[in-house]
Amino acid sequence: MPLVSSKPILEEAMRSHFAVGAFNANNMEQVQAIVETAQEERAPVILQVSQGAIRYAGMDFAAGLVKIAASLVDVPVVLHLDHGTDFDQNVLCLRAGFTSLMYDGSARPFEENVAVTRRVADIAHIVGIPVEAELGKVLKIQDKVTPEQVLAAMTDPAQAKEFVERTTCDSLAVACGSIHGMVSREAGLDIQRVAAVHEATHIPLVLHGSSGVQHEAVVEAIKAGICKVNVATNLNVALIEGIRKASAAHPDETDPRKIIGVGRDEVKEVVREKIRLFGSAGTIDSTGGFRSAKKSFRSAELGEVE
Ligand code: G3H
Ligand code: ZN
Repeated sequence: MPLVSSKPILEEAMRSHFAVGAFNANNMEQVQAIVETAQEERAPVILQVSQGAIRYAGMDFAAGLVKIAASLVDVPVVLHLDHGTDFDQNVLCLRAGFTSLMYDGSARPFEENVAVTRRVADIAHIVGIPVEAELGKVLKIQDKVTPEQVLAAMTDPAQAKEFVERTTCDSLAVACGSIHGMVSREAGLDIQRVAAVHEATHIPLVLHGSSGVQHEAVVEAIKAGICKVNVATNLNVALIEGIRKASAAHPDETDPRKIIGVGRDEVKEVVREKIRLFGSAGTIDSTGGFRSAKKSFRSAELGEVE
């Protein structure tokens, strides 16, 4: 089906207490692995591309690959800009047909973050495209961050309330203990902070840097208000490990499909595990709609209260 907006998908996730997997892709094999697995699991999926991925593949390939992949399946697929750090990048993605944007002003002072997020939201909302923003900052493992820095960068719930009201952003990335780019699953999360931000904002919250977070903490965070979980490093590691494994087993192989295809299969298994963990597996029926929405609709028709 054609690409869909992230807005109704995340609102349904918030209503029904699951999270949508937002998977980063850099090449055709990752796009295929993510979308095929979502189809097999009957789950909505957000396929997100970073500025680096856009530079690597080129805007037309980055957007085009996802559009083609979406057209081949009957589950909802969103094309999302991940960590767009300036206004222009967001406008370029809007023009390229993205159905969800992110303006990440977390490195800027609060007032500047508010002002640019609002500008992006004003433009995107004219054409019905939702915008994710970030307040506080999810740091990167490459920057050798200390626990004190992670704590100091966490989202403040009262400030989040003001931020959401002033920016009209549709979803919010919350800094609550995770760190981008971790390869081992060790991080815990400040679940009470997630719950407090949810209580203060009532919009879908986003967990960044999930690759290094313990699975139990991810599940607790979803119960507290996380509706979108971003996964990148786990998928990159899976792709490379598959390629390494296949190359080691067949050192003389010259057909790249037989090597890279193994990496693609490994990515699929990680996506499957995450979709099941996030509770989004099986939420989409055979018509491409949410099962829960259908149920409520039918019940309403019958005059039943659910
Ligand atoms: O925006 C992307 C994510 O936050 C991914 O983080 O690479 O740690 O999974 P990760
Ligand atoms: Zn992120």
